[in-house]
Amino acid sequence: MRVEDPRDLERNTMKTTVIGRNENTLQTLRSLLEEWDGNMPVTVLTAGVDKVFALIQASPPDVLIIEAVCAGDDELSHMDTLTERFPNMTVMLLCKAPTAEVMQHAMRLGIRELLTEPLKRTQLHEAMQRARRRSQGRMGSHKVGRVMAWIGSKGGSGQTFLASNFAYALSRSSPVRVALIDLDLQFGDAVLFLADHQPQFTVADVAGSQGRLDAALLGSSMAHLTPSLDALCAPESLEAATQVKPEEVETIIQLAAQNYDYVVMDLGRNMDSRTLRALDMSNDIFIVVQLTLPFIRDCKRLLETLDVLGLAREKLHLVVNRYERGGDITLDKLESALGRKVFQTIPNSYTAVASSVNQGRPLLDIAKSDPVARALVQVAERFTHPNKIKEQERSLFSWFKGSR
Ligand SMILES: Nc1ncnc2c1ncn2[C@@H]1O[C@H](COP(=O)(O)OP(=O)(O)OP(=O)(O)O)[C@@H](O)[C@H]1O
Ligand SMILES: [Mg+2]
Repeated sequence: MRVEDPRDLERNTMKTTVIGRNENTLQTLRSLLEEWDGNMPVTVLTAGVDKVFALIQASPPDVLIIEAVCAGDDELSHMDTLTERFPNMTVMLLCKAPTAEVMQHAMRLGIRELLTEPLKRTQLHEAMQRARRRSQGRMGSHKVGRVMAWIGSKGGSGQTFLASNFAYALSRSSPVRVALIDLDLQFGDAVLFLADHQPQFTVADVAGSQGRLDAALLGSSMAHLTPSLDALCAPESLEAATQVKPEEVETIIQLAAQNYDYVVMDLGRNMDSRTLRALDMSNDIFIVVQLTLPFIRDCKRLLETLDVLGLAREKLHLVVNRYERGGDITLDKLESALGRKVFQTIPNSYTAVASSVNQGRPLLDIAKSDPVARALVQVAERFTHPNKIKEQERSLFSWFKGSR
């Protein structure tokens, strides 16, 4: 009996067609596709965008890559009903520096991937990987990732730095896939704490995709920061932010949880119906506080509000940021003022944190033995390796007992 090799199933199941006018670009596409999977049938056709329909309708491929000028809507209008007519086909558009309008228009037409010229090998290969998952119906499998929200008790508590660097630490601490979603819709900047440029798509683009919002669309809208960490940034304008609806936020979180092991969100501090939806869907809510009175007062109010909203107390984890021993307010005093235990302290480390924030690089990459980096790894491991942390706590406890 022949036992099927699962890799055989992965191969040969997709047909790809490439259409365009520029011979050099077509040649590059062909060789990059062959490099990705030498067994995949690839058809290359030299033609303009206006001929796309006629050329593929007899035998639509699984993946269609169109090389276009992207100068305006005329060109895109030729693709108007392409994805409606062939819903199982993944359409990718390759063009030079698409404008924001072109991107939005393309998205509304159901074009899953926007590839930019000069084409990078990894960009194409990652897009093909998503197309393969989509064609095999693997996206949307029944993974249910853990949803984790970070919320600050007051402005400047460090919630964005912690949320983004925690997502990075999670993605590094075991073989998991993590999504960072910036739901500080009005002022979000979480992705810029880990990357030096703003990604192509925002929560508003995905939310406004008019009924086309599914796992594949979400997957192709995420910026791939590392192989195990994807991110979706906050809207670019206040106007776009106000248009995001609570039910769209819910769908984004749901889809992300189906496709990632952990979904980490920066919620900002705006308590509106979108934030509430995200809080309701969270398994863990990290509340960031610092040990000064204004923070503690606001934290008390926030905890009261969360209580009134009926959020389970076990979900709430109090994180004391910029903690330094010997201050006026001790952890014991904080715990009795708030009536909750502290989940984790994160030390104060101005120089290392400022340099991570200013460079837009994860702290773990630039100063992995910094106390803040180590604390972040510890928080991540409380979820990814809970037994290891319990073991450490036990040995610390016995050392402490023995030393008395
Ligand atoms: N543990 C830390 N040690 C030293 N500095 C820190 C620490 N955590 C955060 N910071 C500093 O605090 C600043 C504010 O952090 P961040 O932007 O994450 O706060 P925020 O709560 O998201 O603020 P906002 O309310 O404006 O969104 C950062 O620029 C960072 O340099
Ligand atoms: Mg912030």
